[in-house]
Amino acid sequence: FYLYIDEEAMSKTIIVSNRLPVKVTEEDGQYKVATSEGGLATGLGSVYQSGDNVWLGWPGVEVAGDDKQNEVTQKLAEVSLRPVFLTADEISGYYEGFSNEILWPIFHYYASTYANYKLADWECYQHVNRKFADAVIAIAEPGDTIWIHDYQLLLLPGLVRATRPDISIGFFLHIPFPSFEMFRLIPWRSELIEGILGADLIGFHTFDDASHFISAATRLLPVNSSSNIITVDDRPVVVESFPMGIDDEKYGALTRDPEVVSEINYLRETFKDKRVFLSIDRLDYSKGILQRLQAFELLLDTHPEYIGRIVLHMIVVPSRDTVPQYMELKQNVDRKVGDINARYRTLDWSPVHYFYRPFPINTLSALYHVADICLVTPMRDGMNLVSKEYIASRTQETGVLVLSEMAGASKELIDAVIVNPSNIASMAEAMQTALTMSLNEQKRRMRLMRQVVSKFNIKHWVKLFMERMREVKQMQQSMRSR
Ligand code: G6P
Repeated sequence: FYLYIDEEAMSKTIIVSNRLPVKVTEEDGQYKVATSEGGLATGLGSVYQSGDNVWLGWPGVEVAGDDKQNEVTQKLAEVSLRPVFLTADEISGYYEGFSNEILWPIFHYYASTYANYKLADWECYQHVNRKFADAVIAIAEPGDTIWIHDYQLLLLPGLVRATRPDISIGFFLHIPFPSFEMFRLIPWRSELIEGILGADLIGFHTFDDASHFISAATRLLPVNSSSNIITVDDRPVVVESFPMGIDDEKYGALTRDPEVVSEINYLRETFKDKRVFLSIDRLDYSKGILQRLQAFELLLDTHPEYIGRIVLHMIVVPSRDTVPQYMELKQNVDRKVGDINARYRTLDWSPVHYFYRPFPINTLSALYHVADICLVTPMRDGMNLVSKEYIASRTQETGVLVLSEMAGASKELIDAVIVNPSNIASMAEAMQTALTMSLNEQKRRMRLMRQVVSKFNIKHWVKLFMERMREVKQMQQSMRSR
């Protein structure tokens, strides 16, 4: 009489990221949980909401006191989420400090100007990663799979591995992994690599990021690597690229939603005799917002025939506004937009429509659908999903994407007009190329890009990573039994 336990069926997946995929807000002492439209939230929705699976992370607000924390914990549990609460000091040292004043700038190649190496922030980063590890370990059981996300949690794979040596851990970095010469600047570089190597499968958006990581690991630590496998204490760790996609069907369907259609009609009427450039970014120096504005200004300078005939509709979403570099950038963007509009505007036309606030997805969808040209010109970006959202919203198959070669997406969307965002003159030329591109050429390129975005969508990305996790686990088991 045997009791058969199917380990695979009993096991669960634990997703961990710094931020939970919801927005928690407090109103009159009551907490509200609103779903998020973010790419990762959509992609992993089917994973964490099924069976015993769960997503663990920071709710994004400070919740002080046991009563309030219990209330938030309960509300989140209803949607398979578990909070890791952070105090104001932890938010300042781990999130604003180490994650966003050290790792973010270095990983985006902004070394000397922005990185601020404070020992106290490093200590806080270690402490918060341990806090996340305790939360994971409290619920992880043998056979479970843990999928950890992004640069805020680089130490977490190693910390979990130390207590649960046999558990299956995947790690995905959503931002670029810099070349070794950049990465080596970080005082605690070896500890960070050791932390990441606690995973069994390490994923990046691009092949270059994966090879930069392998190069850093083998130069800093006494580990061997063969092709894309790094061996750590006899444990093979697989390093690979998994370019992230979007829910292309959702963006296609949105353009047919009656509410969106009426927004589309309104925008068409508003922009009747204008060609529309669109850009949508979080406020971040890595997004190249100022350089894009300079190029747009140069275009107006060199092509006065466009005065009154083109518009840059620029949405900047507030982000990390307690970090000093972000506050400074905000002032510079405000000033630059002011300068351009003051120089060129006429009584009934201004060249830059600048919005500093988030917009609902319906409005974004309508804008994507109406804009003739989308400018995605970051100085450095892990992937950039806006570029893919634009393509997925172009159900009419026209439109031009101007895309920075420094965005991971440029490795896939090779039919965009590719630009170097530091070269202002060539960016202005790319804008001119986009304005004068024939409809046939637009369609030829757009169809090819739409195929890429639809084939390598978010479902494909999640499936590929999860399947690879299982394969790596099997490979390790068969090596152990040899
Ligand atoms: C990037 C990072 C994410 C982060 C997001 C928003 O996409 O890769 O980890 O969540 O920016 O930034 P925030 O600091 O507001 O979480």
